[in-house]
Amino acid sequence: MTDRSPLRFVVTAGPTREYLDPVRFLSNPSTGRMGFAVARAARAAGHEVTLIAGPVALKTPKGVTRVDVVSARDMLAAVKAAIVPRKGHGQDRTCLVMTAAVADWRPAECAERKRKKGEMADTLKLVRNPDILKTVNEIPAVRRPAVRIGFAAETGEPTSEAARKCREKGLDCVVANDVTAPGAGFGVKTNQVTLVFPDGTIEALPLMSKDAVARRLVRLAANLAERK
Ligand code: PMT
Repeated sequence: MTDRSPLRFVVTAGPTREYLDPVRFLSNPSTGRMGFAVARAARAAGHEVTLIAGPVALKTPKGVTRVDVVSARDMLAAVKAAIVPRKGHGQDRTCLVMTAAVADWRPAECAERKRKKGEMADTLKLVRNPDILKTVNEIPAVRRPAVRIGFAAETGEPTSEAARKCREKGLDCVVANDVTAPGAGFGVKTNQVTLVFPDGTIEALPLMSKDAVARRLVRLAANLAERK
């Protein structure tokens, strides 16, 4: 690729919710800040952006198309719809950035009405949710986004797990964050991340604002797209 025309960014953000009845769900503390920062940075750099957001309380960045979802299965469907190739707009121009904290499991059943305490068992039967990045990696190359960047939320040294996720999910880069480190991970305005690449290269970034991390990732995605 030689021209610098705008790319299409598909960014996921926030948590998913996996309901066991209309008033109870499994989820996690993601606020969407990291993903909204990536969407804002991509738009500011002149790219087309679709932001697929789990339940969060953030304003849609200007010029960004937002799709709201609740569960992991909703998010998978929205990602699949957003990455469909368009005429005159090859997949070499699409970058998928998955900052969302997708629930790996959901309750095996979701009741239509609120379960009464007396009806609830002490244990919950769970089933696996689909892995969105793995599913996208199984799409034939001509139809899947050329650039795929994932995040890895770890507790403790994040790079070895991130390297495994990079290989297993066929990614161009995994952005690893230790969510127990001060100023990093869920909710805060800053993040400390290490970029892990499939060839084993690692680049540790200092503690910086999520906006600065996002600008770095948008530049990285554009450079990766250029090399495809
Ligand atoms: O939203 P904030 O409050 O700003 O917090 C930001 C963050 C901590 C959520 C973010 O920086 C982060 O680490 N996001 C990824 C969290 C996560 O779910 O990591 P994981 O290691 O479980 O998943 C690895 C990758 O696979 C992620 O890109 C995830 O989106 C993706 N995944 C996970 C599960 C699944 N079923 N399908 C997926 O595609």
